[in-house]
Amino acid sequence: MPRKIIIDTDPGVDDTMAIFFALCSPELEVAGLTTIFGNVHTELATTNALRLLEIAGRTDIPVAAGAADALTGPFEGPVPFVHGADGQGDINLPEPAGTALDISAAQFIVEQLRAHPGEITLAPIGPLTNIALALRLEPRITEWVDEVVLMGGNALAPGNASPAGEANIRNDPEAADLVFGADWPVTMVGLDVTLRVQMTPADIAEYERHGNPMSDHILHILPHYRRYFEASYDSKGIFVHDSSAIAYILDPSLFTLRRWPIRVGVQGLGRGKTWPATGGHILPPWEGRPAVNVCVDVEGERAVALMQQRLREA
Ligand code: RIB
Ligand code: CA
Repeated sequence: MPRKIIIDTDPGVDDTMAIFFALCSPELEVAGLTTIFGNVHTELATTNALRLLEIAGRTDIPVAAGAADALTGPFEGPVPFVHGADGQGDINLPEPAGTALDISAAQFIVEQLRAHPGEITLAPIGPLTNIALALRLEPRITEWVDEVVLMGGNALAPGNASPAGEANIRNDPEAADLVFGADWPVTMVGLDVTLRVQMTPADIAEYERHGNPMSDHILHILPHYRRYFEASYDSKGIFVHDSSAIAYILDPSLFTLRRWPIRVGVQGLGRGKTWPATGGHILPPWEGRPAVNVCVDVEGERAVALMQQRLREA
């Protein structure tokens, strides 16, 4: 039986790649997409999620719109220089025909976990606001979830939204601290590994040979994203952040893990930094916090090969 996942997402170019990767993986059943601000505002993230499901021919999958702002303050704004003003590389897609459910992302997550206890993996690849709201709405989701595998954070690597913080965590550190502190199985697929999952220009060119609507769409939206990596990292290729979380769900053997409790910086220069307690003696404010799986190394080329294989065989 395929493993059910709910992808909580802010699409987003790399979110798009991750969603299509999951949809093309027979081991997974995508039970829903829930949307969040981050790369774009939540309203546009929801529109994009609906559009992507239409491109994939999977309008049977429900979409639920999430929070518009972080737990303790307004969303600080999208990143058009990374993903385009439309979150899809400025290609101006037509409006979707479908609409989102009339329940919130948090309600959808709670309903699905209640209906399928032990069966659903949450895969947040944006800020963690919806997941924190779902925890507040129904704390028993910690007992019902199979696993939480999130793209976000930086344990030992520097940040990307600031020198301290990774973008998803930096967009709602208070929510992230709740998610890392809850008593449920969490795996953090952060910058420590996603900066080592790199698609080269040759890997990207491979999409040209697939000849399916999902690969064609990825090819269409990548040029804007590639210009960002060239300008910011002097790289002709891209880092594959969000798909790395899907790769972990499919094949954890690609990754090396450590188990550490995590606190999230919520103030000042360290806002958005995920701080692991790496020492032997756990002191407050880490004391009493559950250890989470932190991905610290990855076989990047194998991960990219898996991503390519799934789209090629779509
Ligand atoms: O830091 C990488 C994360 O931020 C990814 O989820 C990407 O989509 C961006 O929002
Ligand atoms: Ca994302």
